[in-house]
Amino acid sequence: MNQLDHLDVKERLGRKYEKLFTNVYDDAETASKKIAIEIAELIKEKNNQGKQCILGLATGSSPIDVYRELIRLHKEEGLSFKNVLTFNLDEYYPMPKNHVQSYWYFMHEHLFNHIDIPEENIHIPDGTISEEEVYDFCQQYETIIRQAGGIDLQILGIGRTGHIGFNEPGSGINSPTRMVTLDSLTIADAAGDFYSEENVPRKAITMGVGTIISSKRIILMAWGEKKASVVQKAIEGPMVDAVPATYLQHHPNTEIILDKEAAAELVRFKTPWLVREMQWNDKLIRKATLWLCEKLNKSILKLAYRDYNDNSLGDLVVSHGPAYDINLKVFNMLQKSITGWPGGKPNADDSQRPERAKPYPKRVLIFSPHPDDDILAMGGTINRLVEQGHEVYVAYQTSGNIAVADSIVNRFLYFSKNIAENLNIDTELIQQSLANKQPGDIDIPEVRYLKTLIRKAEARSACRFLNISEDHILFLKMPFYETGTIKKASLMRQDIQLLVDAMRRVQPHQIYAAGDLIDPHGTHRKCFNGIVNALDNVKNDPWLNDCRIWLYHGTWKEWNIADVDMAVPVSPEELKKKRTAIFRHSSQKEIIYPGSENVEIWRFAIDRNRTTAVKYDKLGMAEYEAIELFVAYKLKG
Ligand code: F6R
Repeated sequence: MNQLDHLDVKERLGRKYEKLFTNVYDDAETASKKIAIEIAELIKEKNNQGKQCILGLATGSSPIDVYRELIRLHKEEGLSFKNVLTFNLDEYYPMPKNHVQSYWYFMHEHLFNHIDIPEENIHIPDGTISEEEVYDFCQQYETIIRQAGGIDLQILGIGRTGHIGFNEPGSGINSPTRMVTLDSLTIADAAGDFYSEENVPRKAITMGVGTIISSKRIILMAWGEKKASVVQKAIEGPMVDAVPATYLQHHPNTEIILDKEAAAELVRFKTPWLVREMQWNDKLIRKATLWLCEKLNKSILKLAYRDYNDNSLGDLVVSHGPAYDINLKVFNMLQKSITGWPGGKPNADDSQRPERAKPYPKRVLIFSPHPDDDILAMGGTINRLVEQGHEVYVAYQTSGNIAVADSIVNRFLYFSKNIAENLNIDTELIQQSLANKQPGDIDIPEVRYLKTLIRKAEARSACRFLNISEDHILFLKMPFYETGTIKKASLMRQDIQLLVDAMRRVQPHQIYAAGDLIDPHGTHRKCFNGIVNALDNVKNDPWLNDCRIWLYHGTWKEWNIADVDMAVPVSPEELKKKRTAIFRHSSQKEIIYPGSENVEIWRFAIDRNRTTAVKYDKLGMAEYEAIELFVAYKLKG
């Protein structure tokens, strides 16, 4: 039976651009549980038939919650893996098994060490063999899979290159298990895990596309905004070897499981008016009109009836037209969201402004996941809030010490050693530990302490430059971050308590927080979840009734203008000031973000604000030097 058969006609038409059967869930956690349940059912079914269950497994951040749920099912509900045979997709090459970044280590840490699978049932490509042995090893891997009867269920993630396993662009549809060279984008994406690009192995052993699509069933999962674009190509694009995941379109029993963010670029979510009848509301009208402007490269007030009609928006003009009324409505919505008074304009009519005038001055609490996210995303707005007389507090949620290079510690160490021989720090020990450190090794506590101190000093310096007083700078050092490795712990009660304490101390009228869920290692996601949790804890506090919450986006991307509730213009002088404040974070200067085409972070941040201003200008709004964007967060309940 075709997987679409149980859907009604409207549902099917809504998916007419999708060449792969796709299901979207509210969040990754719910979706992961759904996948774990399917795996558990399959294991039980095979067991009842007296057969082994053959699973194809993936590593990476995507399946972690699936494995967590499988472990829970094993521990709490007696699910046994004794009858399960596993084949992992890939392994870096060369790679010792016990290296923290090896996929062997990953699988044991995230699954195998916590379930009852016999070690001999586990198969992972071997990163320790010699190059001469690789070909035979790969042949044998295929043979063992075949002899086991083939893979019953293969789970996959997807790389931003569109890779499945490590089958990078250019891989053939029939490719077998083999040694491959990693794509430069994949290397850049892995750089964080290995502390720098140079440490990432250039090669890997991977199951081939042919091996993967021989599986009886395949589930590919993807979470978060950063996967949205490649997911769209895989599901709606033509089958091309430049995006190996599109080969799955050949496979009759593949299901793609996504969270809302990863699905955002699919036609049915991005431009729903192209595939279904719409119940128009103001938000959707704004979204459709701005989409039309971008498509036709026209400003809002220049859109004509024909533009709407010829681009599947005929019913919008019929129900809400004429075109000029729609144009004016959207123009005014945007106009009202632009303000030079992010804390509200005192003694002014605030009925058409994003922030209320009173109380004035406001207490403002800015949460920053890492010690520079605040300045990078909203340095111009912070400057205005301070200059306009508000009482601004900044709370740095994590220490950010992972992102400080050893060379910087050495520089500071040399400095402090020479000026403070009596410091109670064993500088010899620290020097030794840095000298002996292997890529991926966890820093000793003394080094982590110094790295934290470096980031604190930088954040303090940037805040002082923007006239934020010393006692308004809070370093929360949330414990979930302090693992010493890229992988972070789960949020703990103490993490939430620290956020609650900061909120209760300030009793803010405005909270600003990073609301994007896109950063490479999930720190922003956890920091945001922590804030949501903390807000729930303080929901009966009287001050919360008079508090508004504004979300900024991490530096990698900016909000879509269609979703924005407040746009704060930044003048040329303010932009210069913002740049200087960013420069105070000198340990971050050399950091290049994955996929950022070697652009330094400060340039990325400044260019982003300038690009936003150009976009507003093109829509026919006033022309500014730069603009920072915010989305209002509505408290639940
Ligand atoms: C992992 C693998 C890769 C990942 C992909 C996505 O075994 O083969 O294809 O699934 O790179 O990685 P994450 O899940 O970390 O985004």
